Amino acid sequence: MLKVIENFSLNDKGEAFVIGLFDEHKQNDLFQQLDEIFEGELGELLRDGEIKGKEKAISKIHTLGKIGFKKIYFVGLGKQDQYKFSRLREAFGRLVKQVKKDRLTELTIALDTFVCGDITTIDATHALGEAVSLAGYSFSGFKKKPNIPDKDIETVIVYTTEEKREIQAAFTVGYIYGKGTNTARHLVNMPPNLMKASDLAEFAVDLAEKYNLSYEVLEKEDMEKLGMGALLAVNKGSAEPPKMIVLKYEGDEKWENVLAFVGKGITYDTGGYSLKPRESMVGMKTDMAGAAAVLGAMEIIGELKPNVNVIAVIPATDNMISSTAYKPDEVITSMSGKTIEVFNTDAEGRLALCDAITYAKFYGANYIVDVATLTGGVIVALGDQVTGAMTNNEQFFQKVLESSNETGELIWQLPYFDLYKEKVRNHSKIADLSNSPGREAHAIMAGAFLGEFAEETPWVHLDIAGTATTKEEHDLGPAGATGVMVRTLATLAERMAEQ
Ligand code: BES
Ligand code: MN
Ligand code: ZN
Repeated sequence: MLKVIENFSLNDKGEAFVIGLFDEHKQNDLFQQLDEIFEGELGELLRDGEIKGKEKAISKIHTLGKIGFKKIYFVGLGKQDQYKFSRLREAFGRLVKQVKKDRLTELTIALDTFVCGDITTIDATHALGEAVSLAGYSFSGFKKKPNIPDKDIETVIVYTTEEKREIQAAFTVGYIYGKGTNTARHLVNMPPNLMKASDLAEFAVDLAEKYNLSYEVLEKEDMEKLGMGALLAVNKGSAEPPKMIVLKYEGDEKWENVLAFVGKGITYDTGGYSLKPRESMVGMKTDMAGAAAVLGAMEIIGELKPNVNVIAVIPATDNMISSTAYKPDEVITSMSGKTIEVFNTDAEGRLALCDAITYAKFYGANYIVDVATLTGGVIVALGDQVTGAMTNNEQFFQKVLESSNETGELIWQLPYFDLYKEKVRNHSKIADLSNSPGREAHAIMAGAFLGEFAEETPWVHLDIAGTATTKEEHDLGPAGATGVMVRTLATLAERMAEQ
């Protein structure tokens, strides 16, 4: 996909030439060189606002044979002193979308025009790689196929004086990060009749085989033997068998410093007997976005092979109604031995997850990150662009936070005071824990419930109920599943490997 060239001429033939443009008075040398060829017309277009240096603005001109390329795309980069990596990635995202719309398959990019301040050539290449895969994503869907199929970008040519091999690697890494994210998006966008627990398991097994990971898929009988009463309770109303999916990546010689990713895999959430109102049920096919994020991250880890041990643990089932379904007032026993009184069958995610956390510890997890579309409360609190986080270990949280800063997937920490822990413990008069102590602080209650199972193991909880999907198209992808936290989890694994 990527070709790196050192010697470059404006007479080279190509479909499109791309150059970065800051919103400043003085433009880069390349722009001035082009302006001379166009006899000052470019400068005029810039002054008239037909070509814009404004942040993320994409302008294009036809060259009418004046240079070898048919079109020039100008990517607006805004003010130089406000230039940063996430903006660049978004600007490239817009470029990719525009180029796709124009049905071009090849791009030549003057990479050096995107280098400024803190942003190195390597950074710019990474951003480009991510943008090409992320912004190029669409869900194929199930409509009768249109006559004119979409075109994908097939070749990206970058012109730079830097070391070729490093540029190639940076692009590939960025591209793989985007691809893993797209994997998660695809799984989440799939309708629930086609993405059942068994489908999720099958996908995970294929992934494991592709990247040589060891794996295990627990069946219902195995769960019964292990006493996973919480996950089993959620599955009781379903005609579909549950699966506990485990992937194991051994990046280190010794099985220590094990990082566990635990992803909520509720393939459909009706709410169970605490039934969701009809409007809130629509969209609940996305309730396995945590599982999808974990699988997307494992794909990246499988590709990049960092020196760190990682396990993925995914409890998968739907949450349905039938005469066998679990109901409020039941008391169930989790794998940990802790008993749980069910107050609300719609607080099913934490039940599925608690056994997965216990199982991750059984596998030797030293650090746990759970990712889950857990509560509507987190959407009320933080909206749809910020993931809610909780932790029992500030140091570990800092690592997750740094990873999230790198990927631009925002997270914000919610408090985890003792009073919340006491509430999940004391709300039930007859069991160790309550799965739903009420409406107050319920996003925190859900996290606090999971904390009871992480116990002393450093743990970060990520509630992606708001961020897993988006109603609007954005610079780096379409409306629908976002694949949020795939890149943050993979970055975290890479960071843990560096130590
Ligand atoms: N899957 C939902 C949370 C959710 C809501 C995800 C909206 C995505 C969008 C979760 O299982 C749920 O139903 N949570 C309840 C918890 C309540 C019963 C304590 C909620 O948030 O209302
Ligand atoms: Mn629910
Ligand atoms: Zn749910």
